[in-house]
Amino acid sequence: MTHTSHVRSSAAPDEVLESVLRGLKKPEKELSPVWFYDDHGSYLFDRICELPEYYLTRTELAIMREHAPEMARHIGRGAALVELGSGTSAKTRLLLDHIDMPATYVPVDIAREYLLDAAGAIARDYPELHVIPVNADFSQPFELPIEVARASRCVVYFPGSTLGNFDRAEAASLLSRIRGMIGRHGAALIGIDLRKDAGVLRRAYNDAAGLTAAFNLNALRHLNRKLGADFDLEQFEHAAIWVEDKSRIEMHLISKRDQRVHIGHAEVTIKRGEHIRTEYSHKYTLEDFAELAESAGLRVREVWTDRNRYFSVQLLEPHTFQ
Ligand code: AVI
Repeated sequence: MTHTSHVRSSAAPDEVLESVLRGLKKPEKELSPVWFYDDHGSYLFDRICELPEYYLTRTELAIMREHAPEMARHIGRGAALVELGSGTSAKTRLLLDHIDMPATYVPVDIAREYLLDAAGAIARDYPELHVIPVNADFSQPFELPIEVARASRCVVYFPGSTLGNFDRAEAASLLSRIRGMIGRHGAALIGIDLRKDAGVLRRAYNDAAGLTAAFNLNALRHLNRKLGADFDLEQFEHAAIWVEDKSRIEMHLISKRDQRVHIGHAEVTIKRGEHIRTEYSHKYTLEDFAELAESAGLRVREVWTDRNRYFSVQLLEPHTFQ
């Protein structure tokens, strides 16, 4: 059964415009990665996931296929599964196939149509499951449906290494919120990309087919459409830079010339060679990630990884002393 009583609307247009302008007027210009994801951006991202250079999705799926039965045993009988950024819920099916009588599935996603389609498909394929989609931006506090509290335990599933797109302080605060959602007896199952050879990372974000470049530039197309901006996409170049000391890939758009861009009634000047940072993608060592989890009151209970140690799926539980 599905119902959509938790569907919420997103931020007011004025606030959105203000926050874009704030980012573009900083000495080091930045845009939120949420601008990648309109319909075209979601399509491009799905194609990126299939690229030979983009090992993340393939590797995480292989880990899930191999270890889902064991993960499901840890999750336990009659649990509620809350998925952050659920998209098509493809990886979740691997878990749902093995969890003993899962009670409730709560997919949380900002893309309303995508969410409702995926939730409908899950509800059709798992008729015993109570499916309650929540249309929300999970990076902000949101309310969990009451049914979650009635399940044997709450497990938050956060795949895809999306946590890596938050800076460290934001990642710690999101993990603390997850800690609050799961309470004393719940758990979190998190997919997180690992630090590796810089060449492999650079190739994953600078693919030969140019899809990541198109995805990055799509943020500007989205701004043009949504906020009536007049970015000329031809005048920007994609760059994905490995920043060793921060252990992250940074996606940037570099201006090919001095230009003025209009957004609403505002004008933004951008110099030739100036960068707009559009995304961080942090790559953790197992030790680093354990430390991050600890800082949020969580401890790593299990780690599943692949033969190359490229990617990990980690089960976190609250510290018992808390
Ligand atoms: C969604 N996220 C985990 C992707 C990543 O790898 O950081 C987004 C992405 N950016 C460029 N390619 C894919």
